Amino acid sequence: MFETFYDLHQAPFSRDLAVDELYASAAQEETLGRLLYVTERQWFAVLTGDCGTGKTTTIRRLSEELDEARFKLLYMSDSKLTPRHFYKGLLEQLRCESKFYRGDAKRQLHREIELMRWIHRLQPVVVVDEAHLLDREMLEELRFLLNLKMDSQSPMALILVGQSELWDRLGLQAYAAIRQRIDMQCYLPHMDRAELGAHMSRHLSAAGAGHELFTEAAMDEIYRFSSGAARLVNKLCTHTLITEHRTSTGL
Ligand SMILES: Nc1ncnc2c1ncn2[C@@H]1O[C@H](COP(=O)(O)OP(=O)(O)OP(=O)(O)O)[C@@H](O)[C@H]1O
Ligand SMILES: [Mg+2]
Repeated sequence: MFETFYDLHQAPFSRDLAVDELYASAAQEETLGRLLYVTERQWFAVLTGDCGTGKTTTIRRLSEELDEARFKLLYMSDSKLTPRHFYKGLLEQLRCESKFYRGDAKRQLHREIELMRWIHRLQPVVVVDEAHLLDREMLEELRFLLNLKMDSQSPMALILVGQSELWDRLGLQAYAAIRQRIDMQCYLPHMDRAELGAHMSRHLSAAGAGHELFTEAAMDEIYRFSSGAARLVNKLCTHTLITEHRTSTGL
């Protein structure tokens, strides 16, 4: 185990770290603030960014930040999502057995959401992750989810999360009706070099490192290979530590 070799009490750069142990870049902080605003207003938001830039992690942070007494977060992530599975998945998270037919399940979901809002005083926040993989039918269906009382009210906050191509797709004329309903667009960029340094220091000190384990030159190289995408940064850092451990111990 390389952690003992470096005198660390846990593996740094691991994906199972609690969200409050993570370094948040300025863009991640701002995105979180925007998403909190979206949930308050029951808006429709789209969050995009390249792969591994921290979109799902930001949603994890959002779920931790939301007041459980006021909001109910429903999260879906399925590349082959169909409208029927979408309604079934949401109803399951509300502990309801879904009706078989899509139209029935949709009405059932609207009823459950009304109960939740008016009886339990809970605002639903629906997050659909990996939304760049959804087909046109599913994206269209999401539009109808937001339509309540002849489009005069939104029954929930809806956040679509996906890789950058999602935004390009929504720019097409075919998706104009969805695009016009978007209240907030959020984009997560890669970390810059200074943020990468702060990110690495944060992880290493959280793991108990008493001194810097990476030189500035090593960080430059990690930045060059990863272009500041958090997942790649974490992978490169872990593999560098393992390789250095092996070389030093001859294992
Ligand atoms: N602020 C952060 N600090 C530390 N690690 C982070 C941070 N943001 C993301 N990560 C790590 O980077 C990895 C990728 O993050 P995440 O899954 O959120 O990216 P994503 O944008 O959703 O990627 P994809 O487009 O592939 O779904 C995860 O292992 C996560 O723990
Ligand atoms: Mg993700």
